[in-house]
Amino acid sequence: MSIFFVMIIKYNVQLQPHNSFRTKALARIFCEPQSAEELSEIINAFPDERKLILGAGFNLFFTKDFDGLVIKPAIKGVHILSENDRFVEIEAGAAEDWDRFVKYCVDNGYAGVENLSLIPGSVGASPVQNIGAYGTEAMDVIAKVKTVELRTGNNKAFSNEECGFGYRNSIFKRTGLYAITSVVFRLEKSFHYKEKYIDLSRELEGIPSPTLAQVRNAIISIRNRKLPDYTLLPNAGSFFGNPVLTESEKDQLQLKLPDAPIYNVGEGQFKTSAAFLIDKAGYKGKRHGMVGVYQRHSLIIVNYGTENGREITDFMHKIQQEVQQRFGIMLEPEVRIY
Ligand code: EPU
Repeated sequence: MSIFFVMIIKYNVQLQPHNSFRTKALARIFCEPQSAEELSEIINAFPDERKLILGAGFNLFFTKDFDGLVIKPAIKGVHILSENDRFVEIEAGAAEDWDRFVKYCVDNGYAGVENLSLIPGSVGASPVQNIGAYGTEAMDVIAKVKTVELRTGNNKAFSNEECGFGYRNSIFKRTGLYAITSVVFRLEKSFHYKEKYIDLSRELEGIPSPTLAQVRNAIISIRNRKLPDYTLLPNAGSFFGNPVLTESEKDQLQLKLPDAPIYNVGEGQFKTSAAFLIDKAGYKGKRHGMVGVYQRHSLIIVNYGTENGREITDFMHKIQQEVQQRFGIMLEPEVRIY
């Protein structure tokens, strides 16, 4: 006996519940495929439509309706692919909740993702923008990314090297040509805490060799203190990326702002803090109408009650202009705007 699944295709779907900024926009066509096969089917059924792949919607917002097909993969499941004495390879479906996956790893003693605790979003989004926090990036633990190519509906898997990872970037973000169906992580079965990030070391002070659970709890405490709850104050986490500067741009900045934090990221490049620049441009806690900079962390733009994404982009342009005029640096949004 064969079983047929019928995929539900919806029209004119409100995207407000599907983005954490809670802006309003309609998707002309919307579907939630449950498997890679269903994802291929839907792509092949609408070859000429513009396509947008949605994760849990924590890193994007809408400024207008989407005249095309929005696909929100609903592919679930976490299973071990292989293991030996030192490593375990785990495959997780794109629609699995990221922090539930981190908790599963920490509970089972698998090390590598604990620093990425409490990052909101889905597993499928983790390679797209190479999520990162407290000195760890997703690229450090991703072995393989399985996708469906939007143009052809064919399956295509990427090794770590093929993902073209960079700071908050990847081939998936740069090209927009692939829908991620699952991610394979390579994690270690033993754990020795290494100092990577001053804030985290401070939080762990007094604990000589922290366990995975202690690291996770420390990160949860830091994030809960600094970052707003999106259910109370809709937001999309860090709004801008931290600017990467050449040596001469760094020197220019230091003439204007001698106390600007500078991190040497190698190959003649330096990162500075976008939050610091926003503070110095006078935007800490500032509010224009229904949009503002979060009081406790200047990298977060929060929504106090608008449903119109253009109010957020207007406010973004004001911050960009002020920072550019004062310090000669163009802040680039890390959040995706549609
Ligand atoms: N700072 C300020 N003012 C503020 C906040 C921070 O001047 O209001 C300065 C301080 O000098 C501070 C430095 O910025 O020492 C760094 O702050 P923080 O540790 O909070 O890191 P961040 O650069 O603001 C990045 C990520 C976060 C991630 C944290 C922790 C980006 C764009 N953001 O923020 O990621 O959680 O590091 O590792 O790289 C996200 O991407 O959504 C996100 C929250």
